[in-house]
Amino acid sequence: MAEIGLVGLGTMGAALASNIADKGFDIAVYNRTTSVTEEFVAGAGDLAPKLTGTGTLEEFVAAIDRPRAIILMVPAGEAVDAMIAQLRPLLDDDDLLIDAGNANFHDTRRRAAEAKAQGVPFLGIGVSGGEEGARHGPSIMGGGAKSGWDRVAHILTAIAARFGDTPCATWMGEDGAGHFVKTVHNGIEYADMQMIAEVYGIMRDGLGMDAGAIAGVFRRWNAGPLASYLIEISGKVAATTDAKSGKPLLDVILDSAGQKGTGRWTAIEALHLAAPATAIEAAVAARNLSSRLEERKTGEAIFGAAPQKVDGDIVDDLEQALLAGKIACYAQGFGLLAAASGQFGWDLPLPGIARVWRAGCIIRSAMLDDMATALTETPDENLMFAPFFAQRLKDSHGALRKVVSTAALTGNPAPALGAALAYFDTMRTARGTANMIQGQRDFFGLHGFQRLDATGAHHGPWAG
Ligand code: 6PG
Repeated sequence: MAEIGLVGLGTMGAALASNIADKGFDIAVYNRTTSVTEEFVAGAGDLAPKLTGTGTLEEFVAAIDRPRAIILMVPAGEAVDAMIAQLRPLLDDDDLLIDAGNANFHDTRRRAAEAKAQGVPFLGIGVSGGEEGARHGPSIMGGGAKSGWDRVAHILTAIAARFGDTPCATWMGEDGAGHFVKTVHNGIEYADMQMIAEVYGIMRDGLGMDAGAIAGVFRRWNAGPLASYLIEISGKVAATTDAKSGKPLLDVILDSAGQKGTGRWTAIEALHLAAPATAIEAAVAARNLSSRLEERKTGEAIFGAAPQKVDGDIVDDLEQALLAGKIACYAQGFGLLAAASGQFGWDLPLPGIARVWRAGCIIRSAMLDDMATALTETPDENLMFAPFFAQRLKDSHGALRKVVSTAALTGNPAPALGAALAYFDTMRTARGTANMIQGQRDFFGLHGFQRLDATGAHHGPWAG
């Protein structure tokens, strides 16, 4: 009998099932198209004895030990509800369903509430690391009843990535907590990627560097404080030659980026929670703008192409700017996690989140270990104010300012870096400018304002 089951043998599902089998667990698998299951098991090689391929849901359910644990790896959205509706009547009340797709955490909260009302267990877990991660060690962000997590924690920690000896699999909290943490991971992923794309643009258009030279810069940065999976793969992408044209691959890829929605969900939730996530919002907007190809062509025809050459060598400043931008962006991400934790009653373990992101996931980086330490030492503080990161920002914000201002003066768009800089400057301005906003609001709507020198609500002389 299988110790666990998995439904959905798409890229991620197949990789996760292989990983589970590889770690010594017997696993039953099911896919709606039976030939996919047959091919998967037939191609499993040494892992085949650990896999039970099944052709119907009844057969699948019968192949799993009771009380059952079943991972759903079907496309996020309606397909998850449909699969739950099909499976539940075949299951016992103590059988655990685990949605491991990229679910919207609001859906996970609803499904968790429905499961609770029926008295059946349900988990929503975020899994990051792409196909390679799923196969050899993803980062796993668990959510749902802790008792459900405890039942499968031995399997999830066995298949997870490791940072040293520590498995990157953690229970984050009730209902949608795991999927929310995964969503914020993806929002940060969008901002990290966008800021890297912005410095790539400055190197390409401002400094006139070719893809090979840019690849060399990313390789060098990957040996320093920016060391991370995304910097590493950016270097690899830049170094790749297109077999068809013989040109650098980057030079033949259309500049229009896709998105499945998780970055947008992060921005939407940040706005709902009044938790500033401006670098992430800028990154989502940049993806949206990237797909407006025709409109951008029209703009270039009317105004002339924006990017102009940059004087001087600012490559080292670009590295420092990325560092500063990244710290500001993560400060926003962890601020958003803290806000959601209060709003949804989760008690999210912020240092634990930084720890779980240290290996396996797409945003894994050397810096996350320092973030885990900072979030432990100063748990209630903005990450930018933790002594280690405050020092890093003191050392690097000048470069961020130089890069953002140079980009603005030379027409090289840098929206996420610009958002990060504006956030940093705003957060070190004790006397801001919202006094003007309050004056305006009171003038046109008598909304009232507070005074610096008195308590209570006040109005301007226009109040009559
Ligand atoms: C991961 C990735 C993964 C996937 C997203 C991104 O953590 O493994 O984030 O979940 O790549 O779907 O998708 P989009 O860029 O299409 O939104």
